Amino acid sequence: MNQKGGCGKTTTAINIAAVYAKKGLRTLLVDMDPQAHCAAGLGVPEEQIQSHIGDAMVGHHDHGFDKDEYLWEVTRNLHLAPSTMMLSTLEAPGSALHQLPDRDRRLESLLKLWSEHFDRCIIDCPPNIGLLTYNALRAATEAIIPVETGYFSIRGARRQRKTIEALIARIGKPVACRILPSIHRPSPLARTLLQRLQESFAPEVAPTVIRDHETLREAASFGQPVVDFAPDSDAERDFTSLVDWLEEIQIEKPVVEVQAAPTNRAAELARRVATNQAPPESFPEPTVTEETRTDSPVIGKITPSEDIDVSKF
Ligand SMILES: Nc1ncnc2c1ncn2[C@@H]1O[C@H](COP(=O)(O)OP(=O)(O)OP(=O)(O)O)[C@@H](O)[C@H]1O
Ligand SMILES: [Mg+2]
Repeated sequence: MNQKGGCGKTTTAINIAAVYAKKGLRTLLVDMDPQAHCAAGLGVPEEQIQSHIGDAMVGHHDHGFDKDEYLWEVTRNLHLAPSTMMLSTLEAPGSALHQLPDRDRRLESLLKLWSEHFDRCIIDCPPNIGLLTYNALRAATEAIIPVETGYFSIRGARRQRKTIEALIARIGKPVACRILPSIHRPSPLARTLLQRLQESFAPEVAPTVIRDHETLREAASFGQPVVDFAPDSDAERDFTSLVDWLEEIQIEKPVVEVQAAPTNRAAELARRVATNQAPPESFPEPTVTEETRTDSPVIGKITPSEDIDVSKF
């Protein structure tokens, strides 16, 4: 996601999804942008799309719900939940989506319904923050923010990051943010700007840089991801190394791990929460010793609770 248009969101989403599929993982690409560029970039004819992701979001998610009505099998292991320009009507106040009490989590519950069929899900967002993007963020575990290594893009990146941070805080669950340098050209200015981006946003910046590749523009115009259009190209290598990095950091980490040190306040609190006891009136001061510092087993995990008040959106 990124409110800035043309920074490489769709190109990144299509190509990450295609790399995952090529690796043998069952992958779902969800297009949440009414511009419907994922379908175009994957050669899915827009005029043949009868149901879009918004129809699936507002549908009844019961046992009779047929996913095949909404999904396109693009290649082996790669399905697309396409969009059409009609998706934009769902953002309007009074739309079928707006009228639902759980309007901000319809995508999340839909993807839960489909989750047994897929190993990875990539969501492409529109260049604005409205109910569709909010649904996407709510359903996600990671947010990737492509930032072009150009002057205006980098100037806007901090504000963009803050906006997303505020949305994540409103959602109330941890969503990791990654800044992805994109459309990087080999010029001295771009190199300086990339360095500035890495300094200002470390450690969130992906170690992989998606360079400017004419091959990516060509692949899009042929309706193919680069893994099919130009295997073994530099463009394919950029996306493969991005996916390798994403896989490396996937190992699930709790927000806070509490260790079983005898006089540790957080440990005492976690123990009491776990056993449903009220916290004590006062805690003893913690003493940190070599013994408490090393190798204590983890006895509790603290994660923020979910905020379910949709009226705040
Ligand atoms: N790394 C790249 N190298 C060369 N061209 C690129 C690269 N990434 C994207 N492009 C091209 O830049 C244009 C915009 O890219 P893309 O559509 O992925 O951006 P976007 O952020 O999804 O745009 P929007 O905000 O309109 O949804 C497209 O023509 C695409 O082919
Ligand atoms: Mg796009």
